[in-house]
Amino acid sequence: MPYNQTFMMIKPIAFRNNHAGPILHMITEAGFRLKAMKITRLTAKQACDFYAVHSDKYFYEELTSFMSSGPIVAAILEKENAVADFRKLIGATDPAKAEEGTIRKLYAESMSHNAVHGSDSDENALIESDFFFSKMERF
Ligand code: CMP
Repeated sequence: MPYNQTFMMIKPIAFRNNHAGPILHMITEAGFRLKAMKITRLTAKQACDFYAVHSDKYFYEELTSFMSSGPIVAAILEKENAVADFRKLIGATDPAKAEEGTIRKLYAESMSHNAVHGSDSDENALIESDFFFSKMERF
């Protein structure tokens, strides 16, 4: 059976611009169920740990300081084919390349300020979900 959950974050810029509501509406309208959700703020260390896979990239410093710059919404979502379907819903990492109607096309400002994060594999969905949520916080 394919793994049917993914992990997502609404990034600080989208939260600050009060876009969390419309983004969550798009997600549930697309058929995803909320399994867990919280508003939280990453410390600089937590942002570095979360994005450790990018630690050798030129944008790591900008990405991690931005991701710890304000509140985010973190959530676990459930749907058949969750990882791929969610990445389709959010659109390309670069908002200039994101398809019309996608979350990033509507709400992203740049590569780092790209409104939302979505796991890129089932394996990372599990790791990222465990980073934020205990068993008691999942429903
Ligand atoms: P996200 O889905 O959170 O996963 C890694 C993040 O790194 C990505 O979204 C972007 O915000 C950021 N990122 C990826 N490539 C670049 C880039 N070339 N320049 C700046 N930020 C990038």
